[in-house]
Amino acid sequence: MSAHPIISLQNTTKTYGGIAALADASFDLHPGEIHALVGENGAGKSTLCKLIAGVIAPSEGAVRVDGEIVAFSAPKDASQRGISMVYQETSLVPQLTVAQNLVLGRENRFNSVRKVRNAARQILQRLNFKVDPTQLAGSLSAAKRQMVEIARAVLNEARVIIFDEPTAALTPEETSHLFDLMKSLQRAGVAMIFISHALEEALNHADRITVLRNGRIIVTGPAADFDRSRLIRHMIGEELQEKTDATTHARASRSALPVLRVENVRMGSMVNNMSFSIFPGEITGIAGLIGSGRSEIAKVIVGHTKRNFGGGRIWLEGREVRYSTPAEAIADGIAYISEDRKLDGFFDTMSVMDNIGLGWLAKFGRRSLLAPFGRMRQAAQSWEDRLKVRRIGVNQPVLRLSGGNQQKVVIAKSLVQQPRLVIFDEPTRGVDVGAIAEIKQIVRDIADSGAGVVLISSYLPEVLDLSDRILVAKSGTIAAEFSRAEATAERILQAAIH
Ligand SMILES: Nc1ncnc2c1ncn2[C@@H]1O[C@H](COP(=O)(O)OP(=O)(O)OP(=O)(O)O)[C@@H](O)[C@H]1O
Ligand SMILES: [Mg+2]
Repeated sequence: MSAHPIISLQNTTKTYGGIAALADASFDLHPGEIHALVGENGAGKSTLCKLIAGVIAPSEGAVRVDGEIVAFSAPKDASQRGISMVYQETSLVPQLTVAQNLVLGRENRFNSVRKVRNAARQILQRLNFKVDPTQLAGSLSAAKRQMVEIARAVLNEARVIIFDEPTAALTPEETSHLFDLMKSLQRAGVAMIFISHALEEALNHADRITVLRNGRIIVTGPAADFDRSRLIRHMIGEELQEKTDATTHARASRSALPVLRVENVRMGSMVNNMSFSIFPGEITGIAGLIGSGRSEIAKVIVGHTKRNFGGGRIWLEGREVRYSTPAEAIADGIAYISEDRKLDGFFDTMSVMDNIGLGWLAKFGRRSLLAPFGRMRQAAQSWEDRLKVRRIGVNQPVLRLSGGNQQKVVIAKSLVQQPRLVIFDEPTRGVDVGAIAEIKQIVRDIADSGAGVVLISSYLPEVLDLSDRILVAKSGTIAAEFSRAEATAERILQAAIH
């Protein structure tokens, strides 16, 4: 490892309203190293990265590049020094095409639309990203938006690339492809920082790991010096009892009447004749590859997607329903926690309390003239506590929460409605290990209380750990069904692929 760090922070602090998001941080990044940042939601990981990428400026202390103090006032200043960041919340301009986004800020290097498009096509091909350069960025899936951001950094010939939770929205195959790509960038001398809540990714793919807790850097060292439990101990300052397979008691025997019945539902090219039932008191996992229709069927059920409905019938507790807006599904007791939480999950300028409270009002306040604010606050507070939403100040807008804490708000906002059917799409994406354990327990508690639970997840260990029964979606239909006892990762993958 070279003696001279490419990036270095010395006793650097970032405060918001007098409270430190990052305190007294000293951090080095060496040329050609892959450096992982881990820590709980709100620990300061994104803040550290944004300081280096010129998104925010330090309140105290400095950022050095090649030993020289820099005062970036915008990301483009950092970009000129070869530092690019791939953000947790996407930074693409939705109204522009992929190609336009790729060259944004450097359009003058290309003198025709065609040249821009060709350059875009070339870089996407080189990276093996299947993204159409002419598509609007706003219409891309989370994974593809991220690919475009990575391509932009590579096109920019960055010497330092910072990835904020790059794998959170990726499938296992896309994830392994990303790490291969990072290795090849590393061979070309690029230094990289990546943030991940999947501790194995840090242990397996980083050269060094830095652990943050409560805005402080707790330890930095070679990845080989850590293991999972040691990382967790540094992250939370104590041992965490990680429960797996906690479904110790058999759930109430299946009632005859399903809470939800879906029959021959079709939607566009994504949902191609799906039929299944969801039973109360049971967790039904839906596994399947991206594009298998597993998320799309959820969107059809809750009235989120109406276009291209191709027929089929849906019953809620024996009564036929067809929702044309999610609000109708909510009023009927169906909660849908979408995978794209940041796009449709909350009002970002409102506080945590108001957001959860609005969820409560949408369900319980509809018929009363005077909103029962006392009960609303109480309900909101109890969910905020339960999910341990970490915020600075009472009125901090949700927009200013860390990524994982924003997701907890979206989950709380749905569950405060005491739904009888909950559809979770990737519920633990972006949340830290402690919150994952808590969310898993909440999923079990909801089923134990008699509600039906649908769990859509690309993370097989999570589906296997939680589900009483697993459906496998493939090409828009249910290709297989396994009981808890029958289900193994291998069988599910076989059914999902072949
Ligand atoms: N613009 C802001 N205004 C006020 N507070 C902020 C702002 N940005 C971040 N914070 C606060 O700083 C703290 C650290 O946030 P940061 O985003 O760095 O956490 P993180 O480690 O990336 O967490 P996560 O894993 O949830 O993404 C949080 O408590 C957050 O609410
Ligand atoms: Mg973050």
